[in-house]
Amino acid sequence: MFFGDGCGLPHGKMRWNLAGATSKSGWARNRREDSSNAARRKKRKSVYRMSAAGYTNSISDQADCARHMRAPYTTTTVYFRVDPHRPEPRPIELAGEAIRDGRLVAFPTETVYGLGADALDESAVEKIFRAKGRPATDPLIVHIADLSQLPDVAVSVSETAYRLFRRFAPGALTLVLNKREAVPEKLTSGMDTVAVRIPDHAVALALIKAAGRPIAAPSANRFSRPSPTTAQHVADDLKGRVDIILDGGGTAIGLESTILSLVGEAPQVLRPGGVSLEELRAILPDLRYQARYLTDDVAAPSPGSMLKHYAPRAAVILFRSDDDVAVWAAMRAFANDHDRVGVIALERDLRRFADLDVKIESLGVDLDAAATRLYSALRSLDSRGVEWILARAPDTAGVGLAIGDRLLRAAEGDVIDVAPQR
Ligand code: TXA
Ligand code: MG
Repeated sequence: MFFGDGCGLPHGKMRWNLAGATSKSGWARNRREDSSNAARRKKRKSVYRMSAAGYTNSISDQADCARHMRAPYTTTTVYFRVDPHRPEPRPIELAGEAIRDGRLVAFPTETVYGLGADALDESAVEKIFRAKGRPATDPLIVHIADLSQLPDVAVSVSETAYRLFRRFAPGALTLVLNKREAVPEKLTSGMDTVAVRIPDHAVALALIKAAGRPIAAPSANRFSRPSPTTAQHVADDLKGRVDIILDGGGTAIGLESTILSLVGEAPQVLRPGGVSLEELRAILPDLRYQARYLTDDVAAPSPGSMLKHYAPRAAVILFRSDDDVAVWAAMRAFANDHDRVGVIALERDLRRFADLDVKIESLGVDLDAAATRLYSALRSLDSRGVEWILARAPDTAGVGLAIGDRLLRAAEGDVIDVAPQR
C-alpha cells in the first residue's frame, strides 16, 4: 500500500531530456566490417559525448528545445505499491480519482508501464505530451477495460476488428480504427483514426474501471528512451512529472503491443510487438508489414516510425550475421578495440565474453525472456557507465521481429553486417 511521500523535484533544478536535440544522421546503415569503420566509430564516439552532455542541460537551456516541447508538466509524485493480481482498492480509487481530475497516473500493463490520463480530456492529454517531452505529431494509444467501451472512442468498427479483439484481447494488440469525434485531436495528432487496446493486467483494468473512462497512455518513459518495465524505470524518467505511480512489479512481456491498422486498403502492422505476425496471419492471411525507419530530417508520412527510439545513453551497435563463429569474433574484436564496452546476450552466449573486460547483462534463456529483459538491460548498462552496448540481431521469427526492431532503433540504425568466415 502507500508508503511513498512527495518527491517532486524543485522547479529550479528540473532537468531536461533534450530528446532529438542531438540526433545522429542517416537511414539504417548496413555496413560491412572494414578498416575504415574504426575511424568512423571514433568520430561517432565524439558525437555521442556531445549528446551525453545534452541530456543533462539545465532549465536555462529551454530555448534550445522549445522546438520540441513546452514547459514540462511538473508535480509532486506519489508512489503506491499494489498487488499486480489483486490490486488493493484504496490506491486504485485514489488513482481513478486523479485520472478524473485530469492528472497523470503511471500504471503497469502486461507490455510496459503506461503514463495515463483521461483520454477524453484534452488538457489532461496535453499533460502527457509535456511530461514526456513527446512531439505533438506522435499520437497516443487509448486503453479500455472491455469492448463495451469501444464505442466511446471508435466508430464504424468492422467485424474484423471485433474478431481480432475477441481473439487477442485483453492482450498486446492495438488496433488503429476510425476515431469518434469526442476523442481530442491532441490525442490523435489531428488524425481521424485512433489506436485502441485492452491491456491484460489487473491493475490497468482496475484503474480504467475506477476512472470510469478510457485512459490515454504512451509508454511511461521520456521521449525516445527505452520503455519502462518497472516502476523504478518510470520514477527514473518521470519523477516530478507524474502525479501517481502504481507499482505492480515487473511487466511480463517487456515490449510494447503490436500495432495493427485496419483503416487502410489492407490490414497493416505498423509496429511489431507482443502479438507475433505469425499469430495475426492465422486470422488475417493478407496482413502486411513493412518496417519503417525514419530520421528526424524526413517528414513522417505516418507517426511512430522514428529511427531513434528506445535508446539508452550509450551507443548501441548491432551485429548481424548467420555465421555464429564470425559474429562472436566481430563482437569480441570490437570489445577489444574500445573502452567501456557493455554486452547484452542470451545466457548461453555470455561465456563468449567471459575473458574480456566488458560489462555483461544477461537477456535470459530464450527470446521471450530477452523481450522481458531487453529495456532493463539497456538501462542497467547505462547506469554501469558503459559507452558502447553490443548486441547480436536475433532471428526475425516470433517475438524476435519485435526485439530486432527495438534493437535497431536503440542502435539508431548502427548495424554491422558481419561477413561469414566461410
Ligand atoms: O504496449 C503498448 O502499446 C504501451 C502500453 C503502455 O500500452 N504503449 C505504447 O505507447 O507503447 P507509445 O505511445 O509509446 O506508442 C504508441 C505508438 C506510437 O508509435 C504512435 O505513433 C502509434 O502508437 N499510434 C498511436 N495512434 C496511432 C494512429 N491513430 N495511427 C497510427 N499510429 C498510431
Ligand atoms: Mg513509447
